[in-house]
Amino acid sequence: MNLFDVYPINPINIVKGAGSLVYDDKGTEYLDLYGGHAVISIGHTHPHYVKRLEDQLHQIGFYSNSIEIPLQKQLADKLGKISGKEDYQLFLCNSGAEANENALKLASFYNGKKKVIAFRKAFHGRTSLAVAVTDNPNIVAPVNETDNVIFLPWNDETSLEHAFAANEISSVIIEGIQGVGGIQVAPVNFLKKIRSLCDEYNAVFIADSVQCGYGRTGKFFSHDFAGIDADIYSMAKGMGNGFPIGGIIISPKIKPAYGMLGTTFGGNHLACAAGLAVLETIEQDNLMENAAVVGGYLIDKLKKFNQVTEVRGRGLMIGIELPAELANVKKELLFKHNIFTGEAKPNVVRLLPALNLTKAHADRFLEAFSKTLTNSLSIA
Ligand SMILES: Cc1ncc(COP(=O)(O)O)c(C=O)c1O
Repeated sequence: MNLFDVYPINPINIVKGAGSLVYDDKGTEYLDLYGGHAVISIGHTHPHYVKRLEDQLHQIGFYSNSIEIPLQKQLADKLGKISGKEDYQLFLCNSGAEANENALKLASFYNGKKKVIAFRKAFHGRTSLAVAVTDNPNIVAPVNETDNVIFLPWNDETSLEHAFAANEISSVIIEGIQGVGGIQVAPVNFLKKIRSLCDEYNAVFIADSVQCGYGRTGKFFSHDFAGIDADIYSMAKGMGNGFPIGGIIISPKIKPAYGMLGTTFGGNHLACAAGLAVLETIEQDNLMENAAVVGGYLIDKLKKFNQVTEVRGRGLMIGIELPAELANVKKELLFKHNIFTGEAKPNVVRLLPALNLTKAHADRFLEAFSKTLTNSLSIA
């Protein structure tokens, strides 16, 4: 049987990892500043993570939500404490798209309305409503098309006010920093405006924190920079350091009822153990602080390269916008310097490393990046 060929892949077989380093089947070492798309939050094979999962597997790996699973409450308590949203309620699922599906659905149950506001260049996932609120017609199948979604320009308060005026808005979904959209930081005043309009019209503010959340920016949720509370935060990627787990945390004003949401796999024992191991490590190893410090260091240094068009981001979520003639930088970093990075169109190098990235590894990247720029310019 063939694999369904939907990914343009690099011809590299990674077989081992430790911290921010990974190794292929030939023993070549790579520096991982991509984290498998912002997923590796506490580093590959972190000893505490490995032990927690191993111990849990020896106990029990899975049982469904038909029984008590105390690990879920432990995860909720820890998440409440670290995020500062102690009065919120946790619903667990398995991926980012699923988290957003549940958030959008719950919002509509809550206020009985149908329309959702999303923004240009947004990415929220590939399943039904999640892809409908994603601004990329190429990945929206005809069956996913719906009149219920209104796309608005980024950071345009006037069009936001107009869209609310008919009082039909159920929810607004926004990434604190657009990831796939090229590392665009949501302006503080724009997030505040969304908050006040949602309050005025009883709409639900959904903070998509799947990529920008979980401590990556130095705060637990990047929307926290605006000093506001969203009604629902969706999360996934960094939550399980590679174990598939997602979730939403829900403001106390939204009351649960049986049947509203549900899942077979969500919140199973092994997933909760992974989630707890991640939060315990973030706390014990001060990883949010490290993300702020090492991320700040990288951003400052990157801004000094005059070939770079713009550096955007916060903490360890960084976008380096390059001019068109430097189209080969990402490939050179990977194949010449053995450094994994992410990308966004048209020519943005995305850095999404583990939150315990060391300054030495940041320097290793900066040195390779500098050589790559010089080399690419001499070729161009
Ligand atoms: C902001 C954001 N939301 C949602 C998703 C979808 O997450 P998943 O691929 O786990 O379904 C992604 C994935 O890249 C994302 O970046």
